[in-house]
Amino acid sequence: MRIDIISVVPELLESPLAHSIMKRAKEKSLLVVEIHHLRQWAVNEYGQVDDYQYGGGAGMVMMPEPLASAIESLKSQRPYDAIIYMTPDGETFHQKMANRLSLLENIIIICGHYKGIDDRIRQLYITHEISIGDYVLSGGELAAAVVVDAIGRLIPGVLNNETSALTDSFQDNLLAPPVYTRPADFQGLKVPDILLSGDLKKIEEWRYEQAMERTKKRRPDLLQEEE
Ligand code: ADE
Repeated sequence: MRIDIISVVPELLESPLAHSIMKRAKEKSLLVVEIHHLRQWAVNEYGQVDDYQYGGGAGMVMMPEPLASAIESLKSQRPYDAIIYMTPDGETFHQKMANRLSLLENIIIICGHYKGIDDRIRQLYITHEISIGDYVLSGGELAAAVVVDAIGRLIPGVLNNETSALTDSFQDNLLAPPVYTRPADFQGLKVPDILLSGDLKKIEEWRYEQAMERTKKRRPDLLQEEE
């Protein structure tokens, strides 16, 4: 999979995508992430990519020409399955969306800044608008890093244990059950006996019950979801 990210603050994306599982995905060539500085498509020699908004009001708007040039330049090199705009007024990101996006081959992600991007770019090019939650970040970069991480770890071969993404919270609309490691007794709190029993069938049943109990208590809305 290849993800091209267009940003005015590429530095914000470099570190989150350079370590741990994302690093492994890149090293195994399962995921290529290219970060492009929007200023290379600026409208003038001063690197201008934003301008005042029509109709007045505080805050600059990202101009359409640099974004269109960036997208066209990428599209001339390969076909893209999705052109995503990170924005607080987009569809709220969730695991099923991550699952679907992880099946695509080439994706562009646009990170907004200031008041956002000129609406004509949304009308002309954007195929998905994604929010990571009901709060406003200073720009789309941290949100894009969240989406790339959630997608990247689902690409087959990225996680060491192929099954481990399947037992994450939200797969099957359930939160994950509690997990324990050594020592078996920590400050008087003991690991549940069942996990030490070696009975894999019973352990699986216990985990399912715990996941169900947790979900009922913390996120009953997940149990109502159909999709
Ligand atoms: N840009 C600013 N806030 C955002 C959010 N909550 N989700 C996605 N992109 C954003």
